[in-house]
Amino acid sequence: MQFDTLILGAGAAGMMCAARAAGRTLVIDHAKAPGEKIRISGGGRCNFTNIHTEPANFLSGNPHFCKSALGRYSPWDFVALVDAHNIAWHEKTLGQLFCDVTAKDIITMLRAEMTRAGSELWLRTEIGEISHDGSAFRVTLSREGRTQDITARNLVLATGGKSIPKMGATGIAYDIARRFGLKVTPTRAGLVPFTFPEGRFAALSGTALPVRAAAGGATFDEAMLFTHRGLSGPAMLQISSYWSEGTPIALDLDPEGRLYETLRAQRTASGRHKLTTELARHLPARLVAALPEQLGMPLEGNLADQNDARLATLCAALRDWQLTPGGTEGYRTAEVTLGGIDTDGIASKTMEARSQPGLYAIGEALDVTGWLGGYNFQWAWASGVAAGQAI
Ligand code: FDA
Repeated sequence: MQFDTLILGAGAAGMMCAARAAGRTLVIDHAKAPGEKIRISGGGRCNFTNIHTEPANFLSGNPHFCKSALGRYSPWDFVALVDAHNIAWHEKTLGQLFCDVTAKDIITMLRAEMTRAGSELWLRTEIGEISHDGSAFRVTLSREGRTQDITARNLVLATGGKSIPKMGATGIAYDIARRFGLKVTPTRAGLVPFTFPEGRFAALSGTALPVRAAAGGATFDEAMLFTHRGLSGPAMLQISSYWSEGTPIALDLDPEGRLYETLRAQRTASGRHKLTTELARHLPARLVAALPEQLGMPLEGNLADQNDARLATLCAALRDWQLTPGGTEGYRTAEVTLGGIDTDGIASKTMEARSQPGLYAIGEALDVTGWLGGYNFQWAWASGVAAGQAI
């Protein structure tokens, strides 16, 4: 069968590309439904974009690469599409936009846009041999026990990264890219919880607090959550993308920096209060109880017993708690894959490979990874539109 364009992967980027590509388009996926990650994203409500999207919110070997596509398809362009489909949405926090009702509305919207563009969708379809005969790609697909050879002038790699293999994630885009002369930068799990040696935070599991987390030159002010296995919550997921194995993360448990002055003032006003009682007004009580062991610092006596130097030492320790994770939960739970198809080999306006005309790569398969908070979907939409418009 002959198509103008074959898109591998019916995820966020692939569906968006299919909605924009001219000519006869076929989208295939090995899953039984399209957009499975959209469906489960944002707790089932899909954090579909972030109105503060800037190139600085993305990690890539080439931080300039994402600028063109993001500049030409903004969060507001996607909001206009959502509005045109009468999908109700709201801003939750930090510019993150969510569906009011269900993430399935976004999938329905993309399917409708694909149908309008005349794109076909084949599910439960496996990818076999891929070659290029000098004028078109030849791809062997198998569906319902039948093998079919497809010829297409354009081939779009939209199969995403390696995150959550249980949901069908594979590294196939990297293998195909390499076959056509593209480089692939090392990949690792991003937006992923940290693990610590057994039991380190078990007693604190479920405790959450706002922190400032720093690693690899980045800093995030968000919530942190202690878990049975380690540390999670938005602050930890964000910083995990910047963290390198074997290095510490620095936690500031007093991100507003007011604790020292507050404790001094309280010492004057209520010197007979226990130090731990006063601390528990600013930090979760379970954390305060665990601090002597965690920080290796006794927290004894009343406020009146603490001189300025002791309070300063305590506050300094709370503001620079250095922790070296044992590792991360890995691709099993990571929201994204860092690294991927090297953007050096891709034209930033069109997403087309320099080494192989007609070959495109979009979405998470590329070495472009966003922060937590709707940025990754915005990249999927923007890169999908860039390729779709070029095709
Ligand atoms: P995506 O992974 O969406 O699609 C790839 C498609 O290719 C899949 O349908 C897959 O089945 C298919 N495929 C893979 N290998 C194949 C093969 N060998 N043969 C055939 N088909 C194959 N981002 C965000 O901005 N806001 C959010 O709220 C969330 N929430 C979130 C929650 C969870 C649990 C996860 C795991 C991730 C998120 N993300 C997110 C990240 C976001 O889901 C992700 O960045 C985009 O889905 C990437 O879009 P792509 O289209 O590139 O890949």
